[in-house]
Amino acid sequence: MSKIFKLGVIGNPIEHSLSPFIHSRFARYENISVDYIAYKVEEDNFNEFINDFFANSLSKGLNVTLPFKKHAAEIPGSLSEEAKFIKAVNTIIRHENRFLLDSTDGKGFMEDLKSNKIDITGKNILIYGAGGAVESILYRIILDKPKSICIINRTQQKASRLVKKYQSNFQIESSINIEVNYDVVINGSSAGLTGAFIPPEKIKTNNKTCFYDLNYSLDKTPFCKWASDNSSYVFDGIGMLVNQAAYSFQLWFDVFPETGKVLNDINSIKK
Ligand code: ATR
Repeated sequence: MSKIFKLGVIGNPIEHSLSPFIHSRFARYENISVDYIAYKVEEDNFNEFINDFFANSLSKGLNVTLPFKKHAAEIPGSLSEEAKFIKAVNTIIRHENRFLLDSTDGKGFMEDLKSNKIDITGKNILIYGAGGAVESILYRIILDKPKSICIINRTQQKASRLVKKYQSNFQIESSINIEVNYDVVINGSSAGLTGAFIPPEKIKTNNKTCFYDLNYSLDKTPFCKWASDNSSYVFDGIGMLVNQAAYSFQLWFDVFPETGKVLNDINSIKK
């Protein structure tokens, strides 16, 4: 009988996670047997849970979501450069009795941009929000050399911190530049996950501007509803979710799973 590898995602809340669905499909398509479960864990029990979970020799790895991504970066083990820089981990891999710790969010985001033919090199990017979700994609965005990045956030201090941390040899700022025509507008704020999305300020865009919501839901997100009035290039975070999962799966099993079929499966249950 083939081995059944134990995998899972830990977070709180976790009830609505699509990760068990996504990883079970990846495993089925790749002919690998897995038991992937969503675990709701209290903050104080994080370390105990990790110890218990990996006590089983068939436990291969875990995904980590809110509020544990920072905690996971403190687990003794080998942190990837990216995870070290953003101080966040979404994938734990057990490798020869030690832990490898990585973040696949940025790569998943970039992969989804690529599959939607969105090229950010030389483009002006506007980002709403300055929390963990934004920091996890900024690292990869910058590697693709956009022309400029503007980060807008309710708490200005947090946007300024990111600007300072990522300041490099191109323009990155934390207030809207009215001279700039934004090519890509990304929503990484959790504001208005219900109700209407109200942009903080008037922005200049063009008829090719892409709007990308890092949030997702099986309904259209408020940001996507708002963006659809301005553009036909509107995307939510489902593609990023599936692709970050695919990169985690690859870290565990050395194979990049077929993402198109899983995306179709999810899109077919979207309203
Ligand atoms: P995540 O890891 O998902 O990014 P987070 O770190 O809590 O979660 O960040 C949430 C983001 O949404 C932050 O940019 C937050 O703004 P603050 O830094 O000012 O907290 C933003 N956000 C959440 N609720 C908001 C609201 N009601 N209005 C404006 N911004 C909000």
